[in-house]
Amino acid sequence: MKTSIIQLPKFLDPRGNLTFLESDNQIPFSIKRVYWIYDVPGGEIRGSHAFKSQEEIIIALSGSFDVLLDDGKDKTRINLNRSYMGLYVPKLNWRSLENFSTNSLAMILTNKVFNQDEYIRDYQVFLNLIQHE
Ligand code: TYD
Repeated sequence: MKTSIIQLPKFLDPRGNLTFLESDNQIPFSIKRVYWIYDVPGGEIRGSHAFKSQEEIIIALSGSFDVLLDDGKDKTRINLNRSYMGLYVPKLNWRSLENFSTNSLAMILTNKVFNQDEYIRDYQVFLNLIQHE
């Protein structure tokens, strides 16, 4: 599956809205790990790396931020600002998170437990890898 925005179920209610997602259901993988990024000082950038086989769903649970994606051919900037929108990022995408608004909360769900060996932190290594995919 390619990079895409997944619109998650949304129950609008005068008492407050509700959204959910389930492993292998609204999203195309089994969730192995969830982490979140918060208290980001203005102007800071997180990420700036790619993963060898890890897929992700990135959600702006609160506030907004931009996700910059580069698959080695095309570069795109996606602004996330709705808690019912999940950005699916396949493996082998160089991605950065930036332009965090005050009090923004980025939640990332992945199909892998944490493993440093999954990270590609050198952009040239990334380009070489995808050329041989
Ligand atoms: P890292 O993924 O390098 O942050 P960034 O979003 O800026 O690329 O992670 C920062 C630190 O947190 C690093 O020392 C590894 C640790 N970490 C974990 O231990 N478990 C995790 O699930 C994640 C995402 C990071």
